Amino acid sequence: MSNSHSKPQDFVFATRLADCPRRAPTYLEIGGRKVVLVRLTSPDRLCCVDALCPHEGASLAAGEVVGQKLICPQHHLKFDLITGACEQMPNMGLNRYATRIENGDVLVCPVPIIHRPPTLGT
Ligand code: FES
Repeated sequence: MSNSHSKPQDFVFATRLADCPRRAPTYLEIGGRKVVLVRLTSPDRLCCVDALCPHEGASLAAGEVVGQKLICPQHHLKFDLITGACEQMPNMGLNRYATRIENGDVLVCPVPIIHRPPTLGT
């Protein structure tokens, strides 16, 4: 998945798709950022998010993937891998990173799509 702000030259090689297991986080450092890649089954999608939990900094590489959620191993907050949103604490979320697949290579844009908490209506 890429976003409209990412250009092809912004993407860097991350790993081979064949080396990326389904429903388990793969830890990577890309462009100085610590991220995890998760290959979802349903929907069939590759997600890339921050590797450190915004709550108290636990490694999400040790987290559990359930459906499209990544569960922090420390206090079990659940993060939606597609939106980055935290289910229990809406003011907290994971930055996401655009991904592309080319010839079996996974490419990631190291510029984060910053998580923004939902705004309250006025
Ligand atoms: S450190 Fe992740 S939920 Fe507390």
